[in-house]
Amino acid sequence: MKILIIGATSAIAKATARIYAERKHELFLIARNEARLNDLAADLDVRGAQIVGHSVVDLTKHRDHGKAIEGAFSVLDSVDVALICHGSLPDQAASEINFKLAEKEINTNGLSVISLLTILSQKFKAQGSGTIAVITSVAGDRGRQPNFVYGAAKSMVSTYLQGMRGKLLSYKVHVVDIRPGLVDSPMTAHIKKGLLWSSPEKIAGKIVRSIAARKHTVYAPGYWRGIMFVVRLIPEFIFKRLKF
Ligand SMILES: NC(=O)c1ccc[n+]([C@@H]2O[C@H](COP(=O)([O-])OP(=O)(O)OC[C@H]3O[C@@H](n4cnc5c(N)ncnc54)[C@H](OP(=O)(O)O)[C@@H]3O)[C@@H](O)[C@H]2O)c1
Repeated sequence: MKILIIGATSAIAKATARIYAERKHELFLIARNEARLNDLAADLDVRGAQIVGHSVVDLTKHRDHGKAIEGAFSVLDSVDVALICHGSLPDQAASEINFKLAEKEINTNGLSVISLLTILSQKFKAQGSGTIAVITSVAGDRGRQPNFVYGAAKSMVSTYLQGMRGKLLSYKVHVVDIRPGLVDSPMTAHIKKGLLWSSPEKIAGKIVRSIAARKHTVYAPGYWRGIMFVVRLIPEFIFKRLKF
């Protein structure tokens, strides 16, 4: 398979890329940090991947998206899977009183993804095959007090993916929305871990299986589907009092 990974240096992306590498797939990687990208490419190479290219892009610079994606498609020729992984965890208290900060976080977690999807959907439509997968979050399922800036951006992407999935159906292009719960990665390094936490490797396994099985909305690990079902059922007059 030919796989394009955007935000490839994320812990979850890296673990996913390693699975694909061990299966000898062809990979094109996009990320913003050149040194980390080179290290990752070397690591995947040792594991058996056919690394066909990588490109350094700050994904908040939307104007650079077209060139990066065109580059990936021209090197890979066709793309079976595009996986978007980048993101950031905002300081909620700071971003809810500083719009510039909120805008930056919403750009990273929401608008930059929609910019990429706008380009990718045209490319996949023209190809008439393939899968577009995006890592969103369970945080998008309901606006909770501790993380509603992040949740709003992720929810925007999930809603977008839902509509896009229908639009791309007749072009034989599949769309997967991957919603992890709590994952032990650099993004959450500062948070105390507990029972519900998972490793990037566990999420990566689920991502690979869900893409292969052409799932629609994936909770990772699966128990988050039940947790978020209950969270969504809580009546608003109670929910608005909850601090979690
Ligand atoms: N960890 C969790 O608990 C959790 C839960 C639900 C969903 N998610 C989502 O899972 C995805 C992967 O996160 P992770 O847990 O693997 O965390 P991570 O290792 O911290 O990865 C975040 C990645 O996003 C990249 N990134 C941030 N801003 C960027 C920009 N402007 N341009 C290019 N790349 C940028 C970072 O690049 P650098 O390597 O250059 O810093 C990093 O590789 C994210 O979409 C995240 O929102 C995570």
